[in-house]
Amino acid sequence: MYYPEEVIQQVIDRNDIEDVVSSCVELKKSGSNLVGLCPFHNEKTPSFTVSPNKRMFYCFGCGVGGNVISFVMRYENMDFQEALKYLAERGGVTLPESRYSREDREKSEHRQLMLDANREAAVFYYKNLYSPKGIKGLKYLKEERRLSDETIKKFGLGFSEITDSSLVKHLKTKGFADKVLIDAGLALFDEKRGLRDRFWNRVMFPIMDMHRKVIGFGGRVMGDSKPKYLNTSESPIFDKSRNLFGLNYARGSRANNFIICEGYMDVISMHQAGFDQAVASLGTAFTNEHAAMLERITQKAKKKILLAYDSDGAGVNAALRAIDMLRDVGIMPRVINMKPYKDPDEFIKNLGPEEFQKRIDEAENGFMYILRQTEADFDMSDPEGKTSFEKNIAMLLCTLNEGAERDNYAETVSRKYNITMENLRKLMVFYSTGIFQTQKRPSREDLSNRPKVKDSGKNQKLLLGWISNDPELYPQISSIVKPEDFDEGVLRESAERLFSDIQNGTINIPAMIAAYEDPESQSEAASIFGVRMIMPETKEERSKAFTELVEKVKRNSYSRWAEASAGSAEDMIKAIEMKKALEKLKDLKLDVK
Ligand code: GTP
Ligand code: MN
Repeated sequence: MYYPEEVIQQVIDRNDIEDVVSSCVELKKSGSNLVGLCPFHNEKTPSFTVSPNKRMFYCFGCGVGGNVISFVMRYENMDFQEALKYLAERGGVTLPESRYSREDREKSEHRQLMLDANREAAVFYYKNLYSPKGIKGLKYLKEERRLSDETIKKFGLGFSEITDSSLVKHLKTKGFADKVLIDAGLALFDEKRGLRDRFWNRVMFPIMDMHRKVIGFGGRVMGDSKPKYLNTSESPIFDKSRNLFGLNYARGSRANNFIICEGYMDVISMHQAGFDQAVASLGTAFTNEHAAMLERITQKAKKKILLAYDSDGAGVNAALRAIDMLRDVGIMPRVINMKPYKDPDEFIKNLGPEEFQKRIDEAENGFMYILRQTEADFDMSDPEGKTSFEKNIAMLLCTLNEGAERDNYAETVSRKYNITMENLRKLMVFYSTGIFQTQKRPSREDLSNRPKVKDSGKNQKLLLGWISNDPELYPQISSIVKPEDFDEGVLRESAERLFSDIQNGTINIPAMIAAYEDPESQSEAASIFGVRMIMPETKEERSKAFTELVEKVKRNSYSRWAEASAGSAEDMIKAIEMKKALEKLKDLKLDVK
């Protein structure tokens, strides 16, 4: 962090969150909060909430939240430093000179040199392709992959020759240091032969980031040998989970959607066929970071997301995972059916762009896709199997956040699978009685053991959220619940701050959020303090629910510890003690007003 905490606090204090948000979003009063239509995802009923008391915002639809700085970061597409500067100016706060250390400066210079080397390498490979040395590569791309010169140029495809150090020689005459070439992943060092090229005898796919900087390469063999693709390994400039192949072009596409697929060749084929909205992950699976990034891009441009994954089993699983991750950020993607072909490249080669456009128009809603895929896991001819499937459907429906959306799907599902609405409603009521709802697709485990012992942090969040709303509860549990009982990361850090804030007499939610500079962690922190609790009616029920929650968090903490423990004699003794303590919790009676 470049600015001291006091300065950040001053900027937060001088910018009223209600003022800042209401200049961008129309807000209406609702109890002590303000609500409006979320600017970060598409919705018809307002779930975007601003709490002037807690000085934070949170959207119950898409889970985005934070303090006033987070809002500006997301709304204006700024990073933490930029948003801070903007708000400092708005609130009349003078920021001290930001301090770049020498180390930071050297790092940034080294990064720049790696980018320069990559750019130079891409030009070198491209020229090679059109020289006599590249005949084999050019023939492969044009004849076997049917790419035009125009497409080859657009993507800057190239060729690495058979001799094993021509790129290194070239870059060294340009003055690049060995370390730069190695760190950029262009060269390898070995004792016998010294520095040599990493890629040889492959057609080369340069990988560009959003600002068209070459950050790495994929190299494909021109036949069936293995590995089929060689990719640059992770480096300070090549971050696979934050970049998508083709995004530099797709961002400017006029289509009203993005198409996510698995391979470089799929992206290139689609672009050549006119679908310039296609992107692919870089040799690894789609990640949560990709989802978060697409969420930021699409919410501004109001675009949809389509998945064009391979039609084989691995492709289906990859699609299901991607749907989960996208739903986590409030996006419901649609899935393009590629059958009878394997991938978009082969589909377009065989059936052409018009047919592909039809498949885009007919793409299946991600929710219905999940249902159809899970159907295969159940034996529908067996009454028990059918009941399990119905339960699964009900749980899935409960993960939909918006009431109207949930009702629509419920009706579609009821018709499609022949379940009466009455039955479906009953099941849904049963599965939604938890105070908090998960956003994720339930696994089969969820179905068989409910309630789950191991939660993914939701009980921990709920406990912290409850305490932050009612800090007087804390003294009752301060000897039982410790920060170590919370998962490492945002949860544990927030617990630490919250408990020490309570001891000091003031809870500062915006400061807890400002401990993070990335929007995802800010949302996670905000989700703790923005939990929407459906409070039980009576004091007895409230006390019981709170006591149970404490117990669940302690149990989860215990099983996490037990899993990680090496099983030493000492650990065994500790385990016995902890078990005893857990047993005692059963008699615990906490008092909630
Ligand atoms: P083509 O055969 O060229 O059409 O490739 P494809 O895109 O159909 O290949 P596939 O579906 O097998 O792979 C999809 C993506 O996974 C590729 O674009 C690569 O990024 C990555 N990939 C495929 N094979 C390998 C491999 O052998 N090693 C690594 N590291 N990545 C691979
Ligand atoms: Mn392919």
